[in-house]
Formats: sequence, C-alpha cells, structure tokens
Amino acid sequence: MTVNRRILLVARPDGLVSNDCLQHVEEPVPTLADGEVLVRVLCLSVDPTNRVWMREEDSYLPAVRIGEVVRAAGLGEVVESRREGFAAGDLVMGLPGWQDYWKLTSEDSAQVVPPGIPAEDMLSIYGATGVTAYFGLLEIGRPQPGETVVVSGAAGGVGSVAGQLARVKGAGRVVGIAGTDEKCRWVVEDLGFDACINYKTEDVAERLRETCPDGIDVYFDNVGGEILDEVLNQITIGARIVMCGAISEYTRSESPGLKNYTSLIMQRARMEGFIILDYLDRFVDAIMELAPLVADGTIKYNVEVVDGLELAPDALNRLFTGEHTGKLVVRVSEASAS
Ligand SMILES: NC(=O)c1ccc[n+]([C@@H]2O[C@H](COP(=O)([O-])OP(=O)(O)OC[C@H]3O[C@@H](n4cnc5c(N)ncnc54)[C@H](OP(=O)(O)O)[C@@H]3O)[C@@H](O)[C@H]2O)c1
Repeated sequence: MTVNRRILLVARPDGLVSNDCLQHVEEPVPTLADGEVLVRVLCLSVDPTNRVWMREEDSYLPAVRIGEVVRAAGLGEVVESRREGFAAGDLVMGLPGWQDYWKLTSEDSAQVVPPGIPAEDMLSIYGATGVTAYFGLLEIGRPQPGETVVVSGAAGGVGSVAGQLARVKGAGRVVGIAGTDEKCRWVVEDLGFDACINYKTEDVAERLRETCPDGIDVYFDNVGGEILDEVLNQITIGARIVMCGAISEYTRSESPGLKNYTSLIMQRARMEGFIILDYLDRFVDAIMELAPLVADGTIKYNVEVVDGLELAPDALNRLFTGEHTGKLVVRVSEASAS
C-alpha cells in the first residue's frame, strides 16, 4: 500500500459522532527519520474513552486537537524501523489512531508484544479491557468472600470480565446491569452471574433490592449517572465503589449529578476512581493471573470484530447505543504471513 487512509477530527461531536465531525483523507505513507518506526495498523480497540478524547476539555490525556487523527489504542506490525528496540515484523501496541499507518516518533511510546496471541485477544482480555477489570476490581473493589458485587455495563468488555473475576475471588453474589434481555441472559447463563437487571425495561432500584437483599458491598461502575445514584442508596457499611467509567455521561453536555452521595458518609463507604495507564508496569501480573483462568474456561469473553477502518466511527457509536456484546474491535488489515 502506498496510501495512508486517516480519519481526522474536524469538529467536536455533540452526542454520537456524526459524519460532519470527521474527515476521511488519503495521504502518502509516511517516510522515516532516525529514531522513528513505521507501523501498519492491524486492529483498533474501540473504547468509550475515544469519545471522551474528542471533547474540548483535556482529561487524563490532552483532548484530540481539531485536524488531528482520531486517537485510539491498537495493535500493529512494524514495517520499517530506524529505532533501537523495534524490528520489522514486531507486533506493537500503543495509540496508533484511526489510520492505516502509524509513524512512531521518538516521543511516542509503544510496547512490543509477543507473537502468537491473536490481535483481538491482545486488545481485549489481555489488553486494557481485561486488565482494567482486574485492577479496578482487585485494587479498589477488593471483594471479600461472601460479599455482594454489582457490575454495570455487565455485558461489555470490562464489565463481563469484572463480574466473572468477582466470582473467582469468592463473592457470594454477583449481579449485573445491562441494556437488553439477551445481554442479561448471556451474563447469567454463560458467564455465571447470579442475576442481571435490564435497566431499560426494569425498575433498577426495586430489582437491586430483590437481587441484593443484604445490600451492595462492591459496585463496579462503568456507567455513572442515574444507575450510580440508585446504587448509592443500597450500599452497605464500608462499601467500595469502583469508579471505572461513566459512559452515560460522556455524550451529555450536562451531568444529572448525584442526589444520594451522602450515603457515602452514612455508610462510611469509599468511591475511588482509577486510570489503567497508571498500572502499565503491572500489566504482566494481571495477564499471568488471567491467562490460566481463560485457558480453563473459568473466564469467558466475547470479541466482536468490525472489518474496515472506515467503520471505526460507526463502531464507536455502537458503544453508546449498546449494539454489541463484549469487546468491540476494528480490523484494519491482516498481519503478514511471516
Ligand atoms: N478507568 C479506566 O482506566 C478505564 C479503562 C477502560 C474502560 N473504562 C471505562 O469502562 C467502561 C466500560 O468500557 P468498555 O470498553 O468495556 O465498554 P463496553 O462496556 O464494552 O461498551 C459500553 C456499554 O455501555 C453501555 N451503555 C452505553 N450507554 C449507556 C448508558 N447511558 N447507561 C448505561 N449503560 C450504557 C452499553 O451497554 P448496554 O446495552 O448494557 O447499555 C454499551 O455496550 C466505560 O465507562 C469506559 O470508559 C475505564
């Protein structure tokens, strides 16, 4: 290929990402200077944070500037390297963005990953998704044997793993919250949650009381908003709320706020956020613990692959409409036969 297709952010979205916020351009494949690496992108991770990075304000990373390629995590194959530590054929993970070719400058970081693991798995269970579930649950949620754990976004990439890990760690009861009956069925019948609440058709407060009769000890929160507010009313003394994400807030211009936060005082509870980038040096620990659980079928996960860079915007919007189960990735190109 001699052309580098790139998708640039040209306006800030309001709600879902519409076509007029993006410009599809074709540029020559970049040439390299000393210290640079050319990577052909194989697979892109579709993450709610892609939409956060499109907003005006900076978050844990600077906002994507107007005119820049849309930022996204992904995995690619080194085509040419003029930097020590990278060789043609290496698989690397980092933030390639929505484009065919990623030029790694001396300022960009990327990790060489071992061959033999499918790209989709490296971006899901063994990537930021599975590892986020691992550290969020174990470092912040710290479920104790017999405790009740509730997970929102339960049929998504992070939530599906978090709930299963809670069970592995001896939680007495694991309850999911998801947006369709089919997702709830998958979470209970295939993943082994005790119950799952369809927040779109059921009364969440009432169903939480039914499914968590002793209250909620750990809440792994992927969605924020009104569901978090309901959960706050039902936490136990000493409860831990893992603030993993707040997808219900990412496309809103104004937050509904929390009415029930004083419950944290009454229940001497803790609500704590985290960003997985802070755990980069411990990814291997998480992968070493997850791998045997995946191999023996204790932890199951689902990856939906969308084929084609041009479908990345649509894939991102599906995270907000809920039209996927498990982890969503975009395949941009195939790895070379070697
Ligand atoms: N802290 C970190 O470092 C970190 C790292 C990775 C991810 N995260 C966060 O973890 C969360 C899950 O990420 P993921 O990659 O695993 O995504 P995901 O759960 O695979 O996809 C998002 C899901 O959220 C649900 N959803 C969308 N809008 C919603 C709303 N208004 N209310 C309730 N649910 C809604 C949808 O499922 P339904 O059909 O069930 O609605 C959708 O499938 C996100 O908030 C993300 O930002 C945080």
